[in-house]
Amino acid sequence: MKGTTTVGGAGRFPTNRIRLKTGTTATIRLAVPDDAQAITDLVNVVGAERRFVLRERATWTIGDERKTLEAADGRESAFFVVEVDGKIRGLLNVGRGRWSKDAHVATLGMSCHPDFRGIGLGTALLSQALDWARSVGVKKVSLEVFSTNAAAISLYRKMGFQEEGRLKGHFLIDDAPVEAVFMALWF
Ligand SMILES: CC(C)(COP(=O)(O)OP(=O)(O)OC[C@H]1O[C@@H](n2cnc3c(N)ncnc32)[C@H](O)[C@@H]1OP(=O)(O)O)[C@@H](O)C(=O)NCCC(=O)NCCS
Repeated sequence: MKGTTTVGGAGRFPTNRIRLKTGTTATIRLAVPDDAQAITDLVNVVGAERRFVLRERATWTIGDERKTLEAADGRESAFFVVEVDGKIRGLLNVGRGRWSKDAHVATLGMSCHPDFRGIGLGTALLSQALDWARSVGVKKVSLEVFSTNAAAISLYRKMGFQEEGRLKGHFLIDDAPVEAVFMALWF
């Protein structure tokens, strides 16, 4: 079943309903300004785990986040959320380069709530982001992941991403050196 959601009055991208491994249904849609609080809460939950993403807490106010979401037009970038039982349980932010030299490349970041991992949200979010990237003419989707993040690397490989390079000791997690892994998918 498909619908349409509108962001900032301009951008349009379909809302999709998907069936999860648990049998429940999830809804993927573009984020809207009223999602600012839920998005910020989820960023803080995942950040507090300290193992998977660089950002350990939200550094913006809810008002800032509302303004960011109001300004989004879904063309240069897209912020997808996935809801389960009406609550946001996953996020994905994808945006293309701002300059003529890198506008063919989009980068992305994503997170799911720890209690809702391994049931298909990440796969669905990433599929949606790849559809968006194709729809705006992006040629390459690129991302950076900690070498210790087995689940994320496995998801990206499953979706066709290939490793392009590593930076050694680029992060320290609990004082242990962790590599930055750059992965990309070309269309
Ligand atoms: C990475 C993340 C977004 C994946 O989302 P998810 O909803 O758990 O992913 P899915 O349930 O769709 O699983 C997708 C694939 O990931 C892999 N995967 C999922 N959990 C895994 C685990 N615990 N160990 C190894 N691989 C795993 C599998 O290949 C799986 O595919 P399959 O179900 O066909 O076997 C999620 O684990 C997460 O939010 N992690 C914390 C934040 C983070 O790491 N963000 C990415 C930073 S680069």
